[in-house]
Amino acid sequence: MFETRITQLLGIKYPIIQGGLQWLATAQLASAVSEAGGLGIISSLSSPNEGALRMEIRRMKEMTKKPFGINLSMLPELTKGDRTEEILKVILEEGVPIVETSGRSPEPFVQILKRQGIKLIHKAPSVRFARKAESIGADAVTIVGFECGGHPGMDDVTSLVLIPRAAESIRIPIIAGGGIADARGFLAALALGAEGVVMGTRFVATHECPAHPRIKEWFVKARETDTMVIQRSIRNAARVIKNKAAEKTLLMEERGASLEELLTVISGQMGLKALQEGDLEGALIACGQCVGLIHGIKSVKEVIEEIIQNAQSILKKLNSICEEGPKR
Ligand SMILES: Cc1cc2nc3c(=O)[nH]c(=O)nc-3n(C[C@H](O)[C@H](O)[C@H](O)COP(=O)(O)O)c2cc1C
Repeated sequence: MFETRITQLLGIKYPIIQGGLQWLATAQLASAVSEAGGLGIISSLSSPNEGALRMEIRRMKEMTKKPFGINLSMLPELTKGDRTEEILKVILEEGVPIVETSGRSPEPFVQILKRQGIKLIHKAPSVRFARKAESIGADAVTIVGFECGGHPGMDDVTSLVLIPRAAESIRIPIIAGGGIADARGFLAALALGAEGVVMGTRFVATHECPAHPRIKEWFVKARETDTMVIQRSIRNAARVIKNKAAEKTLLMEERGASLEELLTVISGQMGLKALQEGDLEGALIACGQCVGLIHGIKSVKEVIEEIIQNAQSILKKLNSICEEGPKR
């Protein structure tokens, strides 16, 4: 059921991928996703150095024998020193089967990955970047709409338009993200031309996610209007929870703050502390609009199985509408 080019390419049961989640996508969360039939992805930037990343990958291999990936977020303007080379070295040495890149083009190392048989998924927020990824040899493209948690790009195009635009523009399989938290979004994405989905926000409110319980509870109570987009002034738009840190960032941007000034509020380290301590106001926390669709903290397995089962029920309902019209 729901076998697509994405399930075949990645060797997974269901076309459901857990996107890189800085500080949260550890082996604990990612292995639960892979074990449940999806693709779990570890965030490389959550590990402070080469040794820690190597340990996390080895921990993952002990926790699951199923396929998994490593997210390689490359946002040089916000990170002190580019760690891409160091992370790549660990990926190659540890025999990681799948890499999800984001932030900038993975062109310089596509051939290195290919030579080792590593599958490359590139995440992009626009059709232009998706085309570029296809042209340089990515195996699949993840396309994320404006609703998404994290970085929605600068074009403000929502998933409902972006997914079919990507599907009509490229031939390699598409994984759709941004706004998908349940079976309805999953099936809609497939209907729009995707062959898999990536979810970030939904996986935060799971038992296996290492976020502080207060953060998870906020994700359950929040509405779809409780996020906002910041960092447009540095052309690195980010959708985060609407809190004091985000409002402060926006005010600083409005008065023309420099990148150095902005870094005092947007630094990733502050996000780590907030997620660990459950501080909902003091730091930026990435979150998508689909937070309004999350109504409970569940296990990863429950989230994935519910999506597959409910998608089957929706399909039956749609078929009956198509064949017989509405039930009286
Ligand atoms: C808490 C959080 C942290 C994230 N961190 C990263 C990251 O480090 N790298 C990355 O490429 N994407 C990151 N993302 C984006 C997700 O991988 C995914 O693309 C996005 O969440 C999909 O949209 P959704 O939030 O509507 O599910 C993050 C998202 C969230 C919610």
